[in-house]
Amino acid sequence: MNTSTHEIADRIYRISTCVPDAAPGGFTFNQFLVDAEEPLLFHTGPRRMFPLVSAAVARILPLERLRWITFGHVESDECGAMNEFLSAAPRAEVAHGATGCMVSLDDLCDRAPRKLADGEVIDLGGRRVRHIDTPHVPHNWEARVLFEETTETLFCGDLFTHAGNGPAITEADIVGPALAAEELFHATGLSPATGATIRRLAALEPRTLALMHGSSTRTRCGEALRTLADAYDRLTRQL
Ligand SMILES: [Fe+2]
Ligand SMILES: [Fe+2]
Repeated sequence: MNTSTHEIADRIYRISTCVPDAAPGGFTFNQFLVDAEEPLLFHTGPRRMFPLVSAAVARILPLERLRWITFGHVESDECGAMNEFLSAAPRAEVAHGATGCMVSLDDLCDRAPRKLADGEVIDLGGRRVRHIDTPHVPHNWEARVLFEETTETLFCGDLFTHAGNGPAITEADIVGPALAAEELFHATGLSPATGATIRRLAALEPRTLALMHGSSTRTRCGEALRTLADAYDRLTRQL
């Protein structure tokens, strides 16, 4: 497995590892590093990927400078290596919504996590990340996304998940491949709230969508979110 790194927005790095057998055409696991006075990592990667991901982070900044460890929800690809990162970075804290802390992270984290209220901003010094609760979207009670306000980058986690090992940034449609992957994995917790939650993210009109699985995009991001929301509304009505 090879890990590649691309700067997808100013001082925001996408660290990507493709696992060939995880889906037809391969399946990428992406982490995002926000380089600021208080550097933030969004997704740690699975525990067994820690050597690859930590080496990629260390090529950008010393691991011990990491200040915030964040992720969309509690699954091994999102946060399996959080305690390895906590141990490599003595000043680092996990930051997550209150539900995630109460249900899982107060117990799972080797150091107590920082609890964030919906809409709360962490000032990283040069970058500002807003925590947004998105319960059950795309899955898990504690689900959330982060919005970096200065570059208008939405770290949308598993939203738009698609297979393949495409470029770091694509100008191609990402909704079609996401719906194809949905048919394959059935990963989204469909409910009457799914579309509305995604439409709230569209209202941010992000300039970049940073995807955990697949290519990120800077092309018509708000429109892509609204199209995805409409598609999930249709799927929900078919239940
Ligand atoms: Fe997930
Ligand atoms: Fe994921």
